[in-house]
Amino acid sequence: MPGRLNGSRLAEILTRESAAFASRTAGSAALLETARGVMPDGVPMAWMAGLYRHRPIFVAEGFGSCFRDVDGNTYLDFNHADLSNTIGHGENAVTRRIARQAARGMQFLLPTEDAIAVSQLLRNRVGLPMWQYTLSASAANTEVIRIARAFTGRQKIVLFEGKYHGHIEPTMAEGGAPGANADAAPDGMGISARATADTVNVPFNDIPALARALQDGDVALILTEPALTNCSLVLPEPGFLEEAYRLAKAAGALFALDETHSWQFAYGGLIRAHGLSADFVTLGKGLGSGMPLGAYGMTAELGGFVERHRDVDVAQVRGLAIGGTTYGSAITLAAAHAVLEDILTEAAYTRVAVLGSRLADGIERIITTHGLPWRAFRYGPRSGFCLAPELPRNLDEALPSLDQAFSDARRVFMANRGIWEAIASAGPQVSFVHTEADIDRYLEVAEDFIAAVSAD
Ligand SMILES: Cc1ncc(COP(=O)(O)O)c(C=O)c1O
Repeated sequence: MPGRLNGSRLAEILTRESAAFASRTAGSAALLETARGVMPDGVPMAWMAGLYRHRPIFVAEGFGSCFRDVDGNTYLDFNHADLSNTIGHGENAVTRRIARQAARGMQFLLPTEDAIAVSQLLRNRVGLPMWQYTLSASAANTEVIRIARAFTGRQKIVLFEGKYHGHIEPTMAEGGAPGANADAAPDGMGISARATADTVNVPFNDIPALARALQDGDVALILTEPALTNCSLVLPEPGFLEEAYRLAKAAGALFALDETHSWQFAYGGLIRAHGLSADFVTLGKGLGSGMPLGAYGMTAELGGFVERHRDVDVAQVRGLAIGGTTYGSAITLAAAHAVLEDILTEAAYTRVAVLGSRLADGIERIITTHGLPWRAFRYGPRSGFCLAPELPRNLDEALPSLDQAFSDARRVFMANRGIWEAIASAGPQVSFVHTEADIDRYLEVAEDFIAAVSAD
């Protein structure tokens, strides 16, 4: 166990707290029993069971920064459905706009004026001029990869170890670095090895490795988060993303920033905050704030390419394989319009960054008080425990912070005290509705947990 934490103490806590959790959630357990008859693991989407070591609970309702389960337990939410709803639960400007649009029609397979407004707002914030919409960030990344392959006439894509870009074939791939003597292999059952053979993974913050991956001139796209957010938090070293973009251009490849998570770290995303360049930017999750929505922005040149290669129904010559009948719907774009206009304002990002510092400072304080050789992760609203003395620069260095025993024990300990902790590979993160009191409550419980684990 890293630092002074004790593995058997973590196991004891997990056993004790899991028993308490089970007794507090009997109503959920009964529902789960019924649900198991009609859904594997009793959940409508397998991850709802796979993300946690405790059994899933059934939610009765959400309000502001909290939600309540069917047993009447209230949780202060620091996960926000893994950042797919960072504007809080229950009625707000977005739900009111959704209700208004729903009453007028949810989907026409035709544009509504919200599509123009959302695209203009995104253009102004992110800087890329042309936009398209899907129902998830995964689907947006799928389309970005397809456009890049069609545009460049190449197949290879370069990703960074520790990445996550959705459960899609080309990115669910491990390995394949130049010189590895083997193609990238599927990172999960059900993925075809043929679908991952054109993927190359290199370490983040490693320019020489990236240059080697590009040297044969056969790469269509480099796809990366501007900071890796799915293996704890790995920030780019100064100049890394700028040099990666420059190398992409020199090698005739396109460069995409997946800001599905990081767009919530800073107004307009990290592309704006750091003046970065990209051919594509992917968004999702918090942009719909509960409404399934993905989006990608692209340069004018790529927008022109999409126009020239429009897929025409029943035509003999196929265009770009992008789109879906429910993408870009009236209802999702009404939601995104309200999210952008009414909630994710520049002032709101500023407020949340202040709360994020309060969270990260508090975590640092807990670490120092208990004499642990650790750090706090911090970027805007995002924080967390870095279980190492130095912040990580790549996946290998991030791995100690993904300690399963630490996160399992912490999650259930905190749930029993009314905090819904982030999933193991992420957060906690401040949402747009959190208050100082919410942050302080998180820190109080986190400190109790660290005290319980590190007591002699
Ligand atoms: C960076 C990034 N890209 C894409 C995705 C996929 O998002 P979704 O599952 O909503 O399609 C995720 C999900 O965690 C993500 O973190």
